[in-house]
Amino acid sequence: MPLVSSKEILEDAYKYRYAIGAFPGHHYEMIRAIISAAEELDTPVIIQTTPDTILYTGIHHLAQMVKTAAENTKIPVSLHLDHGDSFHLVNQCLRAGYSSIMIDGSKLELEDNILLVKKVVEVCHAVDVPVEAELGTIGGAEDNSNVRNREIFLTNPHLAEKFVNRTGIDFFAPAFGTAHGKYKSEPKLDFPLLDDISNRVNIPIVMHGASGISDKDLQKSIQYGISKVNFSTDLKSAFALELRQHLNENPSQENPRKMFITARESVKEIVKAKIKVLQGSKAAV
Ligand code: 13P
Ligand code: ZN
Repeated sequence: MPLVSSKEILEDAYKYRYAIGAFPGHHYEMIRAIISAAEELDTPVIIQTTPDTILYTGIHHLAQMVKTAAENTKIPVSLHLDHGDSFHLVNQCLRAGYSSIMIDGSKLELEDNILLVKKVVEVCHAVDVPVEAELGTIGGAEDNSNVRNREIFLTNPHLAEKFVNRTGIDFFAPAFGTAHGKYKSEPKLDFPLLDDISNRVNIPIVMHGASGISDKDLQKSIQYGISKVNFSTDLKSAFALELRQHLNENPSQENPRKMFITARESVKEIVKAKIKVLQGSKAAV
């Protein structure tokens, strides 16, 4: 089917207290692994691309790959801009057919963040595309390791309420203890803060930095309104580990069509395992 908006799938997840996995479409092999995992479990899925991924492949190639994959499957697939860093890129994504947008103004002062997000909401809503935005600092190094590691600054729940009301966003990404990349020590999630934010904003909440979060904490977060869960590092690590191993064990392997098979399979298995955890609470509803 054609790409779907993330709004319906996330609102259903929010209502029935389960979550949708959002996974990185770094390239064709990843996209294929993610879609086949979701197909096997018959669940909707979000493929997301950061500005760096868009730069790597080119927006039209990338969007076309995901659109074609979506058209060839029965499961709903949404194409999302992850950590969008400019109004210009948002417009490029809308023109390329993205069905979900995140604008990340979290480095800006509150009023500047609100102004940017409002502008993005206006253009996206005009074409029925939902918007996610972040307040506070989720921290860590996101996608590109050249980007300096940022510290976590937890989201203030009063400001979260004001931010969501003034911007009109559809999904909210707060900082409540997760961080991007590999955790150096066990992450401590602030569930009372998440609960407070969730009760104030009353829209689906997004967890960033979900690689390395325990299954128990993932499921607990869902009970507080987390409806979209972003994974990247776990998939990248599995892909690299498996590819390295395959090439080491098969030094004569030079076939570009065969060398990624085991790496792709390992990503597919990880995506399936994550989706099962996120759907875990749905079965109990
Ligand atoms: P991880 O790389 O820590 O899983 O974070 C993914 C993410 O938040 C993408 O936006
Ligand atoms: Zn993120």
